[in-house]
Amino acid sequence: MCGIAGYIGEQPAGALLLNAIRQLEYRGYDSVGIATIHGGTLHVRKGVGKVSDVNAALRFAEMAGTLGISHTRWSTHGKPCQENAHPFVDERQEFALVHNGIIENYLELKEKLRKEGVSFSSETDSEVIVHLIARNYRHQHESERRSIKEAVLKTLQELQGAYAFCVLHQASQEIIAVRNGSPLVIGLGERENFLASDVSALIQHTKRVIYVNDFELARVTKDAVELFSFHGEKHPLHVKDIKWDLEQAQKQGYKHFMLKEIFEQPEVIAESLRTPHSAFAPFVPLSFASEPSTFTTQSARRYKHITIVACGTASYAGLLGKYLLERISGIPAVNEIASEFRYRDPLLENNSLVIAISQSGETADTLAAIRLAKEKGARTLGIINVVDSTIAREVADVLYTRAGPEIGVASTKAFTAQLVTLYQLAFALAGKKSDLPFDIIENVKKTLALNEHIKQLAQKYYHSQNFLYIGRNTNFPLALEGALKLKEISYIHAEAYPAGELKHGPIALVSEEMPTIAICPQDAVYQKTLSNIEEIKARNGKVIAIGTEGDTTLQKLCDDVIFVPKVDEIFYPLVLAIPLQLFAYHIADIKECDVDQPRNLAKSVTVE
Ligand code: M6R
Repeated sequence: MCGIAGYIGEQPAGALLLNAIRQLEYRGYDSVGIATIHGGTLHVRKGVGKVSDVNAALRFAEMAGTLGISHTRWSTHGKPCQENAHPFVDERQEFALVHNGIIENYLELKEKLRKEGVSFSSETDSEVIVHLIARNYRHQHESERRSIKEAVLKTLQELQGAYAFCVLHQASQEIIAVRNGSPLVIGLGERENFLASDVSALIQHTKRVIYVNDFELARVTKDAVELFSFHGEKHPLHVKDIKWDLEQAQKQGYKHFMLKEIFEQPEVIAESLRTPHSAFAPFVPLSFASEPSTFTTQSARRYKHITIVACGTASYAGLLGKYLLERISGIPAVNEIASEFRYRDPLLENNSLVIAISQSGETADTLAAIRLAKEKGARTLGIINVVDSTIAREVADVLYTRAGPEIGVASTKAFTAQLVTLYQLAFALAGKKSDLPFDIIENVKKTLALNEHIKQLAQKYYHSQNFLYIGRNTNFPLALEGALKLKEISYIHAEAYPAGELKHGPIALVSEEMPTIAICPQDAVYQKTLSNIEEIKARNGKVIAIGTEGDTTLQKLCDDVIFVPKVDEIFYPLVLAIPLQLFAYHIADIKECDVDQPRNLAKSVTVE
């Protein structure tokens, strides 16, 4: 949550930092701000709202200076308002700071600073950092040359929590940046360097990057980058080349990123099927894995029990994964919401495999769950989209999903890529040579061709205030995912249930005003789900079914049907996910909601 960026070089910093926060806006969009240094003075502009609105009023690109930092906020402490917007400055206006994360002991630090005579201008936790740095800078011995790096290192000893921040001083040509739990990457240019929460903010300038690790401090000037431990020891620099380009992170003519990403799914599946782990190969070991990789399809079979940890959409992929792993590989699997798992002292042994699923690879609860699993001696495996992200680096082994950059806050193509990887893993663990059939790509394309029909249904139903989603077996996690998609982007209340649970309570909700989306392909539980639909119809409920093409029974029974192509039963989730995504998308679009940046949300949830 929150995006931070920095620039030092020879170009106007305001324009570059504005572009950076445009790219990072998916991380938070409550308020934005930029600080630059020009003529030995700090210049700060900040305001409430989205980047484009604030920029229209404040014209960031006109800010003078070739050195600066910027921020886009997802509020944690204090409401979105001018006072709580970053950057923060110290009382003498010498330092400016942008922060992503949470300072857990900020109240205690605030109290301490207040007693020292510091007054605060915001309700945020972040502001304490800049005052501490300023205080520690000034307390340095008068006879020595004052060092911002030393002042920051001293400050780090006082901070508790998770953070990444960038700080600058009006009289210094450097940016000091720190990482502890929140992402931070440095982009290397010619006589210029960049900092950002995410590669997407700097990829148009450079593809040579250094990922800052937890407990590292970076000192960045226009000609050099140095890394230090939190104790001040110098660390080596590991430069990596980014393989994708900006084009992939742009809308390419689609009205929204979400729509573009939905339509990219055939290519995502194709790309996933081309990866080495699809061909029943040993898993690719990571050079930076915390222990030497011995995790192959052979050795993996020694795991007697699998636990999947994830949040949100990734967790619904995990629940589907549980069904697939048990059915295909025969290994018992459970799926747990990461935020619950991490606080319940789970029973794990060294023959347990814990799989973390995450698009961003930065989700705080999923990361904590993996750390706990490691502490308890379990083997860890990540199913991760963002290469070199924190979780990818912390797990013993990683299977990268091939979704490419996902920008829309609502996860779509990443979900599909996670499913494909789970199928591949399940087949590999089962020792089966089979893999996904290539014709699944054609069937996904055919399902996408239903877009116009689904848009018409969205027109018909968008006035409804509540929706029920039901499904059995693998259709139940899909129901959860469909309901999440609808509520997060259209703000319509939606609840999902296993279809068999209806008569244990939720059927009381059924009325003409509360439509049910019933996921009912011709699979092993078809007849059972059909009976549940009958029960809804008998109570005057409206039913929009998603079923198999040619199913006349479903057509007669339901108010509306979205017919997907017939596929091998086990692969239905890959086609059924699409109408659920498109239905939510069109309802949100008709309601003129901010599809890509829904209220109160952020793409990357790096706070718990
Ligand atoms: O980056 P992750 O996959 O770990 O994110 C997990 C959830 O925050 C994410 O899937 C969220 O639920 C999506 N916005 C749902 O569309």
